Amino acid sequence: MCGIVGYVGDKESAPILVSGLKKLEYRGYDSAGVAVVSRNTLNVVRATGKLRNLENRVSQEEPKGTIGIGHTRWATHGRPSDENAHPHSYKGVAVVHNGIIENHLALKAELRARGHHFSSETDTEVFAHLISDELDSGRDLPEAVRQAIKQVKGTYALAVVCSSDPNRIVCTKDASPMVLGLGEGQNFVASDVPALLEHTRDIVYMEEGDLAVVTAQGVALYNRQGQLVNRPTRRIDWTPMMAEKGGHKHFMHKEIWEQPRAVADTLRGRMLLSEGDVHFEGWSLSPEKVRALSKVTILACGTSWHSGIAGKHMIESLARIPVEVELASEFRYRDPIVDSTHLAIAISQSGETADTLAAFKEAKGRGATAMAICNVMGSAMTREADISVLTNAGPEIGVASTKAFTTQLVTLYMLAVKLGRMRGTLTVQQAQEHLTRLTEVPKMIEEVLKCETSVKRVARDFMSSQDFLFLGRGPMHPVALEGALKLKEISYIHAEGYAGGEMKHGPIALIDEKMPVVVIAPKQPHVAYEKIIGNIEEVRARGGKVIAIIDEDDTHVASLADDVIRIPPACALLAPVVATIPLQLLAYHVAEMRGNDVDQPRNLAKSVTVE
Ligand code: AGP
Repeated sequence: MCGIVGYVGDKESAPILVSGLKKLEYRGYDSAGVAVVSRNTLNVVRATGKLRNLENRVSQEEPKGTIGIGHTRWATHGRPSDENAHPHSYKGVAVVHNGIIENHLALKAELRARGHHFSSETDTEVFAHLISDELDSGRDLPEAVRQAIKQVKGTYALAVVCSSDPNRIVCTKDASPMVLGLGEGQNFVASDVPALLEHTRDIVYMEEGDLAVVTAQGVALYNRQGQLVNRPTRRIDWTPMMAEKGGHKHFMHKEIWEQPRAVADTLRGRMLLSEGDVHFEGWSLSPEKVRALSKVTILACGTSWHSGIAGKHMIESLARIPVEVELASEFRYRDPIVDSTHLAIAISQSGETADTLAAFKEAKGRGATAMAICNVMGSAMTREADISVLTNAGPEIGVASTKAFTTQLVTLYMLAVKLGRMRGTLTVQQAQEHLTRLTEVPKMIEEVLKCETSVKRVARDFMSSQDFLFLGRGPMHPVALEGALKLKEISYIHAEGYAGGEMKHGPIALIDEKMPVVVIAPKQPHVAYEKIIGNIEEVRARGGKVIAIIDEDDTHVASLADDVIRIPPACALLAPVVATIPLQLLAYHVAEMRGNDVDQPRNLAKSVTVE
C-alpha cells in the first residue's frame, strides 16, 4: 500500500504533488518523493520518513516543471531509505509504483546481464529499466510502458514520466487502485480520491489492465487489449475526510472490510504451490538450523499475542516444534531459559512496541535466532531481527487492530508450512494442500463479511450489557481472547475471553440472565465441538444468553443458541481468521451504537512505545 499522485497542467507541479501526497499519507509514510519534468530535464527529490521531510527538501530545491509524479511509500521490498524512496529513475524515465512485482529478482538478473546497474533494493526500479530499454528500441512512451508490464508478474498501479516525452504521464493499473481526476487545462492521477478533491470532483476509476495517457488537454484510456475505451466520469461529493476513509464512517470499519485484499497481499508472491513450499524474501535459515531447532518462543503483546497463541497451534501441528507464547512484558523481567537452538519470533503490527522489542533483544542476546513478523518494514524490530517477514497489511490507522491480526495469522500459517517442509514433517503433497487452503482465505473473508447485518442486530440487542464472556476451545481460544479485547477497547464494556474448559473453574459463577456469552463453535474435532456444546448447555442452564459463531450448515447449535452468526467452514487451523471477523464487527457496531470514538478509544495509543 503506497500513495501515488500525478499532475500535468500549466502550474508548478511540485507543490500540487506534495499537497496531494499529504492526503495520501494514510497509505504509507516510510519515505516520499516527487519527479518533475521541465524542458527535457528530469528533477527527482526524495526523502526518508514523514512527508514534512520531503516538503522541506522541495522548498529548498524548488524543482521546476508543470508535469510530475509523486509517491508516499509503505515499504515492502527494501528498507525505508532515500535510495529506496520512489520515484525511481533510469535514463530520464521516472516511475512511481504501488504493488508488488513477484518476479523482480529474475527480471533484475536479466537486466544486469544486459549491463544495467540498480541503485535501490526495490522491486519497482525494474520498471524504470524495462521502460527505458523499450524506449531505446524505438517505442513511444505508452507502448514502452505496455511492453514493460507484459514482462512483470504481480500487482501494480504505476505512473511514469519521461524527460524525452515531457508532456504526458502514462499510468496503468492491475489489482492496485488508480483514479484519474479531470480538470480544465490540467489533469491528475492518484491512488485515491482524497488527493484530488482540492482540484476536481470529476473522477474516472481505472479498471484492471487499463492504461491512460494523461496530458493537460485530456485523457486517453485504453483497455488491456489496447483498445480505446470510455470509462464513466463520476462526480464525487464526499468530504475529504470521508474520502480518506473510502466512504466508511471509521478507519476501523474500512480496515475490517479491507481484509480480503490485505490477506491476498500477505500471500502474494510467497506461495510456491507446485513445489509445496513458501518463499519469504531474505529467508536465511538453513535446513540444518531449522532441523536443529529445539523450541520456538513467540514474544508479543495484546492482539499480536493472541495471534501468537493461534501460531502455536499451527507450528506445533505442522512443524512439530514446541512453541511457547510469552507476554513480552513478563518475559523481559524473568530469567528466561534461551539458547542458540531457539527461534525467537517477535510478532508486532508496529514493530515498535517497547515491551516486545525489549523481550526480543533479550532473547537474541541470549543466543536465539531472532525473527520479526511485522507490518512495518524498517521498524525497530525488523532492524533488530536476523530475519523479517512482513505481513503486508498496509497502514493500520484504527487503534483497534483488525487486518494486522488476520494477516499475522496467515503469515504464521505460511511459516508453519515452511518449517514443516524444512523439518520433513510435511510431505510436498500435504504442504500443497495447506497452501491451497490458504489461497481460499481471501474469498472466505469476503463471504464472512456478509454477516454484517446479523452482527448489527446482535449488537443492537446487547449494546447495553455490562459484561460479556467469550468462549473458544483449541485454536478458537485466541479468537475468544481477541473478541473480548476488541469489545472492551472500543466499547468500554467489560469482557473476558476464556478457554471453554476453564469456564467451570470460575467464570461460570458470573453467569445469569444478563450475561451474553459469545461461543465460537465451528464444527471441528480440534475445536472440541462436542465439548463446546457442553459449555453452551451450561450457560443456558443458568439463564445466560448464548450468541454462537457457527458453520453455515450447523442446525444443532442453532437450535440451542439465542442468536447465531454463520461463517463459512474452514479447516481448524485457519478457522481463527474467519471466526474473528464477526467479532471485530460486533465490537465495532456496539461501540458505534454507544457513540464512542471508535478509531481513537480513550486511554489507548496505536503504538505503545513506553513500558
Ligand atoms: C489491539 O487492538 C491493540 N490496540 C493492542 O493490543 C496491540 O495489539 C498491542 O499494543 C501490540 O501492538 P503491536 O502489534 O504494534 O506490537
